Amino acid sequence: MAKIILITHQKGGVGKSTLTFNLAQNIASSAKVAVLDFDLQGSLSQLKELVSDFEIIPYQGKLESIPELVYDFIFIDTPPYLSNHLPKLIAMADLIIVPTKAGILDLLAIKSTLSLIEQEQRTGDTIVVFNMIKPNTTLTLDILIGLAEYDVKIANTHISDLVAFTRSVLLKGVTNDKNAQKQIDNLTTEVLTKLL
Ligand SMILES: Nc1ncnc2c1ncn2[C@@H]1O[C@H](COP(=O)(O)OP(=O)(O)OP(=O)(O)O)[C@@H](O)[C@H]1O
Ligand SMILES: [Mg+2]
Repeated sequence: MAKIILITHQKGGVGKSTLTFNLAQNIASSAKVAVLDFDLQGSLSQLKELVSDFEIIPYQGKLESIPELVYDFIFIDTPPYLSNHLPKLIAMADLIIVPTKAGILDLLAIKSTLSLIEQEQRTGDTIVVFNMIKPNTTLTLDILIGLAEYDVKIANTHISDLVAFTRSVLLKGVTNDKNAQKQIDNLTTEVLTKLL
């Protein structure tokens, strides 16, 4: 059975598609991977022709027809709003990744996504990943306290704001940037550890 990894946050531009792509690309070297693109604006779907190491499936179909048997890992990229598919996707995922920037407004915005995850009783299977962290930033206490009311794990790996990530979707990942690749490797390890 495929492990299903849902990447979600109702806020736009936090890096859902970028992280989905890079995690999928990284894991694809050793496993069969598909990305289901639930964003009807289809950002990742438009890269379908450029990607050869894993499959990108534009998805509008029924949840029941998710092609679980063919793949080891299925990543699900979601749109920047609370779609009516979301509760079911949250319920069926083995792991839920919520990317966020580290600003106060970003953390206020995360609450509706985390509340939905809490309603489905999946906070224990959720990791929040800080993305687009500027150099020399330490995550301040007020940011972490903002998350403390939810019983979610915060990934030890923080993803930096790097050009390599911006370009990654055209260059099959971030192998040209050692620092970026190390971060994605570390995050991949955290994801796989949580799935075992
Ligand atoms: N770690 C990063 N470093 C630099 N740029 C990044 C990083 N992560 C994402 N970006 C850039 O930020 C923008 C938004 O990222 P992305 O499209 O992945 O977010 P999203 O959450 O999928 O957005 P949407 O909700 O609109 O689908 C893109 O231009 C992307 O290249
Ligand atoms: Mg996206």
